[in-house]
Amino acid sequence: MPSDAKVRVAIVGLGFGAEFIPIYQAHPHAELVAVCRRNKGELDKAADKYGIPKRYTSYAGLLADPDIDAVHINSPIPDHGPQTVAALKAGKHVACTVPMATTKEQIREIVALQRAVGKVYMMMETVVYSREYLFARELAESGELGRVQFLRGSHQQDMDGWPDYWPGLPPMWYATHCVGPCLAILSQPGRPALADKVSCYGSGRIREELVPKYGSHFAVETATFSVRGSDVCAEVTRSLFDVARQYRESFDVSGSRKSFEWQQVEGEEPVVHTKSTPEKPLAEPEIPTRVKVPDYARLLPEAIRTFTTPAAIQDADHLSFLQGGGHGGSHPHLVHNFLAAVRGDRPAFPDAPTSANWTLVGICAHESALKGGEQVAIPAY
Ligand SMILES: NC(=O)c1ccc[n+]([C@@H]2O[C@H](COP(=O)([O-])OP(=O)(O)OC[C@H]3O[C@@H](n4cnc5c(N)ncnc54)[C@H](O)[C@@H]3O)[C@@H](O)[C@H]2O)c1
Repeated sequence: MPSDAKVRVAIVGLGFGAEFIPIYQAHPHAELVAVCRRNKGELDKAADKYGIPKRYTSYAGLLADPDIDAVHINSPIPDHGPQTVAALKAGKHVACTVPMATTKEQIREIVALQRAVGKVYMMMETVVYSREYLFARELAESGELGRVQFLRGSHQQDMDGWPDYWPGLPPMWYATHCVGPCLAILSQPGRPALADKVSCYGSGRIREELVPKYGSHFAVETATFSVRGSDVCAEVTRSLFDVARQYRESFDVSGSRKSFEWQQVEGEEPVVHTKSTPEKPLAEPEIPTRVKVPDYARLLPEAIRTFTTPAAIQDADHLSFLQGGGHGGSHPHLVHNFLAAVRGDRPAFPDAPTSANWTLVGICAHESALKGGEQVAIPAY
């Protein structure tokens, strides 16, 4: 693509998806040409507010529009798989919010199709572009952590009152926020770390009325998984209903020299633990230190740097709050990386096979929980 060419983008789904409108509009390599949602009144309201020329209530209509290069899907979870397949078949590049899909068959189809059509696919996993993750990654790359020994992620969220596809969703079907960072930090450019086996236990029980839709009764699912070609394993925990916990996406990495631990509650700072050595002995209270994680806006084009702070996107009418403080400032990084991949500047991260692996860890973990913790091999597509 010529250096000044713009990617013509459409956003599908304007709940969470609306947060990305001003970012695409400000990015020098994007032109936000269309938005799509089913409710015409709400669609026009958003499109008028942001001055977006094209509006679609029909997803099929949007895909038939030759003026659109790329779609960013933010529809309800059960639609991600089918809408991604349809977009790739229509020759569009695809960014899709998490998870990639909810069945192995859909995931296999997306990976095969993406390869066949040669368009970009990127799963828009927020945690691997959050400032906390970027800080931990920097510690790993600089060697400060030493040897990575263990990884742990958790994502706990109370989904009571959320739209109808949520009640009773198996917690592990939405596990990419905790699986993604564990595998991302072990990845090298062009060499993604991929999980190969998972074992998961289900714990507790959700209210009976929540059970029938997905046939899943666990309040908490907690899994360990191994990584192909690595001696490091990871543990992830998820809950969605009937567990008292403030919203938390977290990621911890234990290293031989230093370890990084995500903050316990919103508003705290993360902790870095330093190993005491004979050369530099530390008393127990000196081992943990709270750290102020820097802002990684410097990695972005100037025009979208302000979007790393929640205030910049808070003006969207419907947003009463922003989860995790705008998901750790990740939104502009996701947009920037997706556009760079479409322009051919660098590969998408996570790309289709990597997104498949991150999502499959959760799908196979739930399968394992239903089998009482039996180990399940994660298919490689
Ligand atoms: N951190 C994150 O990555 C993060 C955070 C929040 C939400 N999400 C994901 O974003 C998605 C949307 O979440 P939400 O809370 O905004 O949901 P929501 O149900 O409030 O909104 C969904 C939107 O999609 C539109 N929509 C539904 N079906 C459609 C169709 N067939 N064609 C076009 N538009 C359609 C709806 O009109 C609505 O605007 C979910 O899949 C959720 O998992 C991810």
